[in-house]
Parts: sequence; structure tokens; C-alpha cells
Amino acid sequence: MSQVTMTVNGKTASGAIEGRTLLSQFLRDSLKLTGTHVGCDTGQCGACVVHVNGQAVKSCNMLAAEAEGAVVETIEGQAAPDGSLNTLQQAFQDHHGLQCGFCTPGMVMSAAALLKDNPKPTEAEIRAYLSGNLCRCTGYHNIVKAIMAASGQDVSAIAAE
Ligand code: FES
Ligand code: FES
Repeated sequence: MSQVTMTVNGKTASGAIEGRTLLSQFLRDSLKLTGTHVGCDTGQCGACVVHVNGQAVKSCNMLAAEAEGAVVETIEGQAAPDGSLNTLQQAFQDHHGLQCGFCTPGMVMSAAALLKDNPKPTEAEIRAYLSGNLCRCTGYHNIVKAIMAASGQDVSAIAAE
């Protein structure tokens, strides 16, 4: 076992890890930040996306040891301290961008990374960016709509599901 320390949602977080401990395991099991979901553990579904030093990362694809000293943001850090949703989260709610919610933390974190780099993405750009995030429920249309709305764009042309 060794010790890892990182900044998670603005607070210093340390814990004991094995060399093989994944960042997703450290967040969920050691820090109890279970908003980061694990759907596949093989880098395919995107449910585990968090931000590491400002970049969207599939946390099941990264060792916790690799995040030593990093700044990590998870879904738990997105809402305000009083629990009010941020713009993107509110848009997912307003536009029915979720059903069971399993993919939602990863979708929101991926979408946040997209909007940081590209504040007014086209529908095609959103769909391409989210190609690594799978959703079994929504058919994606309302997720795309939510992201367009969060970026202040007209969503009337997006097909309703
Ligand atoms: Fe990480 Fe599926 S759990 S990509
Ligand atoms: Fe159920 Fe996306 S809302 S998997």
C-alpha cells in the first residue's frame, strides 16, 4: 500500500492505495464519492468521467497513483454548496436529459469539459464529443438538447424523443 494525495472538489483528499487501485475506485470506495458511476470498468461507457487537471478523463482508465497531486472535479462538486444545480445540471433537468440517471454524472462531466473548450458547440459537435458516453435510456436527443440549452442556443431544431 502507498499513500496518494490529490485535491478533489476543492479539498485535499488522501488515502491508502494499492498500485492497481483505479481512480474510480479511490473516489468511490475511499472518498465515498459514489456519484462517479462505474458501468463497464473497461473505458467504454463514460459513466465514470471526472475532470483531472481540467480534462475529462474516464476514471476507470486511470490509476489513482497517476492522480497524485492532481486537481480532480467530480459530479459532487458541480452543484452550489446549498445544493442548487449549476446551469448544465439544470438544463438536463429542464430538458429531460436523463431517465434512470446512471449515465448522467459522466454525461454532465463530459458536457462541462466540452463547453469549457467550445462554449457554443453545434449539434454534430456535441454528438461527436459524447461518442464515448453511452446512455441506455434517453436516445440522446434530450441530452443534446440540454447541452445546447445550457450553452444558450436554440433547441427547437433538435428532434424530440
Ligand atoms: Fe469507466 Fe465505463 S466505467 S468507461
Ligand atoms: Fe439511463 Fe442514461 S438515463 S443510462
